[in-house]
Amino acid sequence: MKDVYILGIESSCDETSCAIVKNGKEEIATIISSQIDIHKNYGGVVPEIASRQHVKNITIVIEECLEKANMEIKDIDAIAVTYGPGLIGSLLIGLEAAKTLSFIYNKPLIPVHHIAGHIYANNLVKEMKFPLLALVISGGHTELVYMKEHLNFEVLGGTLDDAVGECYDKVARVVGIPYPGGPHIDRMAEIGNANYKLPIPLNDDSYNFSFSGLKSAVINLAHNLEQRKEELNKEDLAASFQEVVTTVLAKKVEKAIDEKNIKYFITAGGVAANLAIREKLSKLCDEKNVEYSFPAIRYCTDNAAMIAAAGYYYYLNNSFSNLIINAKSSDVLK
Ligand code: KG4
Ligand code: ZN
Repeated sequence: MKDVYILGIESSCDETSCAIVKNGKEEIATIISSQIDIHKNYGGVVPEIASRQHVKNITIVIEECLEKANMEIKDIDAIAVTYGPGLIGSLLIGLEAAKTLSFIYNKPLIPVHHIAGHIYANNLVKEMKFPLLALVISGGHTELVYMKEHLNFEVLGGTLDDAVGECYDKVARVVGIPYPGGPHIDRMAEIGNANYKLPIPLNDDSYNFSFSGLKSAVINLAHNLEQRKEELNKEDLAASFQEVVTTVLAKKVEKAIDEKNIKYFITAGGVAANLAIREKLSKLCDEKNVEYSFPAIRYCTDNAAMIAAAGYYYYLNNSFSNLIINAKSSDVLK
């Protein structure tokens, strides 16, 4: 079969990204323009500012990507783009750019669910094997997904309130760390001791998660110490929080591995960059004799290579869209 080159576009939040991926697994070029430096002044992503930055960046990012790959649009087989979920204004910029390229150059248009993209970041490291279990942990999502084959997503459970990354960012705020706090908490936890007692949330028999209670427990702990004029050990708090998060994630993953007879496990999303989570889950998989992979650290957070990788499998299925497709701020993975 001839090689297939997919150009991916991702703009669902605060990263404008374009990538070219060959045959769903080989990254040719990726450009990511991050807006973190702008949004961190506000303690989180400001949707209107994000959209305006995407407008500024999108054509430059696409041009740079083609240049880096030493390719022209005529060499591309299809355009894959994140249609949702995400910030509606941000999504629209990437989607309109993709539609325009598709229309002008007569290339098939492939809409990709953002979470499907995160999952397929793993395919760029090691070809995914089925049936598999995916733990999706990002700033907006916490989901356990079962896949019996490519593009077949069964959501086993998810968060009932906050996403795990959101919780990392809020805990970071409590200790005065700028957005996005996840990577900082990860590093602080490494040097701290898990001395603070925090509750294990939704420690039940379901595949669901809950992180808002844990977030409140951290806030209350910090307030109580402040009222008693006792010093908060930030590293110990980070370690205590991370210990609870890794425990609850591993517990639900273990349940799914056992009940679904899983032989292949992957993790996806921004929080999949977390070293303690990687360590805990790899240990669990080793014990259970389950093969596993993690995305490359740079492809845990939002990027277009993951969208192009997923897009390849839609391409093989001829799953193309016409130009009236709209962006969706929320949409179930299916
Ligand atoms: O996947 P992503 O870029 O955005 C969404 O689709 O939501 O994930 C961003 C999230 C942020 O909450 C960030 O704090 C978190 O991923 N994150 C981490 C780490 N690196 C990024 N959280 C914990 N440990 C990390 N090393
Ligand atoms: Zn994401």
